[in-house]
Amino acid sequence: MNPEPGHFYAVGVGPGAPDLLTLRAARLIEGCDALIAPRSERSEGSLALGIVQAHLREPELLEFTYPMTRDTARTRASWGSVAEWSAVRLKAGKSVVQITLGDPLIYSTSSYLLEALRERILGERIHVVPGISALQATASAFQEDLTLQEDRLTLLPATDLGAVAEALDRSETVVLYKVADRLDSLIDLLEAKGLLENARLAFAVEQDRQQLIRDLRQARGTQLGYMSVVLVRTGRKAWREA
Ligand SMILES: C[S@@+](CC[C@H](N)C(=O)[O-])C[C@H]1O[C@@H](n2cnc3c(N)ncnc32)[C@H](O)[C@@H]1O
Repeated sequence: MNPEPGHFYAVGVGPGAPDLLTLRAARLIEGCDALIAPRSERSEGSLALGIVQAHLREPELLEFTYPMTRDTARTRASWGSVAEWSAVRLKAGKSVVQITLGDPLIYSTSSYLLEALRERILGERIHVVPGISALQATASAFQEDLTLQEDRLTLLPATDLGAVAEALDRSETVVLYKVADRLDSLIDLLEAKGLLENARLAFAVEQDRQQLIRDLRQARGTQLGYMSVVLVRTGRKAWREA
């Protein structure tokens, strides 16, 4: 797929390794007129931009620092300004790509931009290109099944440990994003449920600073931070008898 004039593309660039970028993503990034690279207030640069470096052909670049806040109105307003920036270029016949870490529809800032863009341009000019998500990269790094037969998979942020406890009771696989400073409490919860042996932690998977931790006891007291995924296999749910 090549970028078309006046079209917008939300493009997932995968978890970190440049060779986990899809061919479609690479072509769109190479051919676009304008490129939006989001970075959080807390990061030093755009991780997504680093991943696609080899494919940049001097597009007009907007490195957009978005607020790390739970204030939805503030978040929507700031993405509204990016939608406006994009709409001006799209209406002038330019192609615009927004790159995002992992997949654009999994806990991603792309969702805010897509929402704001749908109010400004025709839906048929908006496209989403999937990327390899951190949950897939984590499962692959540990060679752990995500699902088999009738297994249930739950993906949720580790922000609400009550919700995590419920998910552990009703899923064969639980994947947790946004672990951040809740790691020790999470380890306590897994220990209380007898699941510590079944948990794996991937920090910055597929990035240069990657750490893969098979025994979560070793992670106690560490400040591995935001860029972590915890994967827990609670059991197996076999095919039911026909
Ligand atoms: C804003 S979400 C982005 C998710 C992304 N869209 C995806 O599909 O994986 C940020 C969370 O994703 C997870 N994450 C993203 N990339 C990661 C990586 N390379 N290694 C570990 N965790 C990652 C972390 O849990 C982090 O808190």
